This record gives sequence, C-alpha cells and structure tokens, in this order.
Amino acid sequence: MRPTWGTRLGFVLATAGAAVGLGNVWRFPTVVAHGGGGAFVAVFLIIVAAVGIPALMGELAIGRHAARGPVGAFRRLAPGTRWPWVGGLGVAAAVAILSFYSVIAGWCLGYAFHFLTGRLANVPQPELESTFVRLVASPAASVGWHSVFMGLTALVVFFGIRGGIERASKLLMPAMVLLLAIVAVRVLRLEGAMEGLAWFLSPRWRDITAGAALAALGQVFFSFSLGMGVLITYGSYLQRDSDLPGAAVWVAAADVGIALLAGSVVIPALFAFDLPIEGGPRLLFVVLTGVFGAMPLGRLLGFLFFLLLVIAALTSAIALLEVGVTTLMDEWRWSRPRSVVAAAAFTFLLGVPSALSQGPAGLVTVFGLPFLEAVDFFASNLMLPVGGLLTAVFIGWTWGTGRAQAELATGTRRFRAAGVWGRAMRYLVPVAVGIVLLGGLLAG
Ligand code: TRP
Repeated sequence: MRPTWGTRLGFVLATAGAAVGLGNVWRFPTVVAHGGGGAFVAVFLIIVAAVGIPALMGELAIGRHAARGPVGAFRRLAPGTRWPWVGGLGVAAAVAILSFYSVIAGWCLGYAFHFLTGRLANVPQPELESTFVRLVASPAASVGWHSVFMGLTALVVFFGIRGGIERASKLLMPAMVLLLAIVAVRVLRLEGAMEGLAWFLSPRWRDITAGAALAALGQVFFSFSLGMGVLITYGSYLQRDSDLPGAAVWVAAADVGIALLAGSVVIPALFAFDLPIEGGPRLLFVVLTGVFGAMPLGRLLGFLFFLLLVIAALTSAIALLEVGVTTLMDEWRWSRPRSVVAAAAFTFLLGVPSALSQGPAGLVTVFGLPFLEAVDFFASNLMLPVGGLLTAVFIGWTWGTGRAQAELATGTRRFRAAGVWGRAMRYLVPVAVGIVLLGGLLAG
C-alpha cells in the first residue's frame, strides 16, 4: 500500500515548504525592487493566477491520478511512449539542483553557527567580504557543512511521508514564519526602515519593462518548484478525496505571502543602512550579515535570520530528495532506507565539486564557469523550463485537459473554474514557460 499524507494541512505545509526556499529571500525582494515595486507585485500576482496556479494544479493532478513518482506517472498515463523520459528529466533536475542547493544551505548553517558563537557580530563590512570568501574557499568548511545539511535532509526523508516529511513540515513551517515575523518587527523599527517599506511597495509603472515581466514569469516558475517532478511526487501521496484545487491555491498563497514578508525585511534593512540593493549569495552572506551584526541584539538576530534560511532551504531540500527516493522505490522496488542512503550519498558526492568550486583557484570549472554556477545554469535555465514546458504540453494536449479536469474535480464539491483552467493549461502555460526557456537561454 502506498502511504498517504495524514491531513490536508500536512500536505499543504509540506508543498508550501518545497515552494518557499532561498529564492524567496535572495531573489524575490531584489527582482521586485528593480522591477517596479508595487507595480511588479501586481504583474506577479496576475502571472501567479493565470500561469502559476494552473500549472501547479496540473502537475499535482498527474501525481494523484497515477500514484507514482515522475517516471512511473508518465508511464501509467501514456504507456508505450517516450513520455517517461520527461519524468526522468525532472528527477535529474531535482538531483542536480539539490546538489548545489545543499552547499549553499550548508553555508547558511555555518553562518547560523558562527553568529551563535559571536564570531560574526560587529564585524565591519569589508572584513565580512573576506570572512565569506574564507568560508566558501575552505574545502573542509564548505564540504563539512554540506555534509551536515545533506545528513539532516536525509534524516527527515528516512522517516517517510507521514512520520518524516509531514511531521517535520508541521513543525518547521510555522517556526520559520515566526522567526521571519520576529526579524521583520525588529528591522521595521530601525530608523528609515518604514520609508524603505513604502518605497518597496510603491508602484513604479515605468520600470515594468519586458525584462521585468520575464523576471516575474521566471520567478513564479522557480518559486513554485514547477517542472521537476516535485509536485508530481508530492501529489502521488494524496488521498483521492482531497480537494486538490483548493490545496493548490493555499500553497500559492503561502509562497507569495512569505516572499512578500521576506521582501519587507530585506529591502527596509538595506534602506536603513543605505546599502545598494543586490541579490544572490552576497546579499545574504556579506550585506545582510553586516546589517544584522551591526544592530542591537545583532548576534541573536543574525542567528535567527540564518536559522530561518536553513529551515526554508531544508523543507525544499526534503522535497528534492524525496523525488529521487520515490523514483527509486517505485521503479526499482527498493526499500525506503536503501533509497534514502543511495540518493543522499549520490547527491552529496555530486555536490562536492560545487563545494570546492568556490576556492581561490576556482578549482573545478565547466565551460569556464565554476562548477556550482554551471550546474545552477544548466538545471535552472535549461532542464527546469524544458521539463516544465513538456509537462504542460503533456497535460494540455496528450493526457488531455478533460481527464485532468476529472481528476481535479475528484474530492471537490465542484471545480467551478474547470473551463478557465483548461484554456490556461493548453495555451497560456506552455507559451509562458516557452518564454522563460528562451529568456534563460539568452541569458547564457
Ligand atoms: N522554490 C525554491 C526556492 O524558491 C527552489 C526550487 C526550485 C525548488 N525547484 C524546486 C525547491 C523544487 C524544491 C523543489 O528557492
């Protein structure tokens, strides 16, 4: 018997945990700030409703209908075809993303620890630059924290859907929101922070360019964790009688809500200290580290901030690892313990070159890029959108929206938006994901 989620809340929290990740903190606030503030948020919400939520529902419907991981799901829905390869592409993308995601989450773990010991409080900004470089360039530290983080992820997944993932999500998600709220209250009381918040959300329609719209599209896609089998996998453990469209809307709302809250911390904090708005790892490990370190109670605040990042990353990493584990269990009939050990060990080893690639010699490179950046580019800009595009085409045109609609309506009193959903799935979603793919390739 395939296990199922114990409660609807547990499923929503676990799936929201997959969606809410580092991207909500280091990417969303900066794209909003550069892309037109409140005007960007309005565009973002339209894309969420028109593209994000329909795609989310579609992938979950595949999973629940087939009750299999990505590879098996495509095989069940389209036997004797090549579609299972699309599932395989998703699994490969999940493994690739997890390999470097764990390295970066490991750095967060290290920073939480060093805030706790007091080593990171009150360090002047230029020195923080070298502190960061020293951490990421040290093979022992980088690989060490990477192994700790992978170990934590594997531990949760080891205990299974209900006893591991659902239980952990019910604890971790509320804890993360609480930590974020504490940090937000402290930051917004800083001198100048409120002006920063007002600026962050003020609509600047002139900044809504084609580039900004593309960034919004890409961010929705990445943030909702589409196109890599995560939603098919989590959907495959859903009970028949659960309200799927309703759950999808809750997941989307949680993801967007937490992204907005993160933006209301990050941008005002930069404003209060008169710092330039940038994204990526430097935002976390240099700029914000300096900001928190310089505040009253900075040691505690810095610790709480990096702890919440670790939690956000952990619930995403759990989902990514579960994709591989479910696939091994479904396809090769391996036991869960064996699948967890194999998938975690393989992903850990694949992450080692990423962990070493930030060293002074830029040791491990592919096509002239450090290994970590190369894997990121390949997985995020190529495998993800290709997988997402093919999945959308599959739902809209091969499996068919009729069958998908029937699946979505099962467990709901009435799926009122069925017609609109079908049209979004057939036309809007494939076109939107196609644009993301082109944009990502041109960025390379
Ligand atoms: N959504 C995650 C974030 O915002 C990143 C991500 C992309 C992800 N695809 C995923 C996480 C799949 C878990 C599973 O950071």
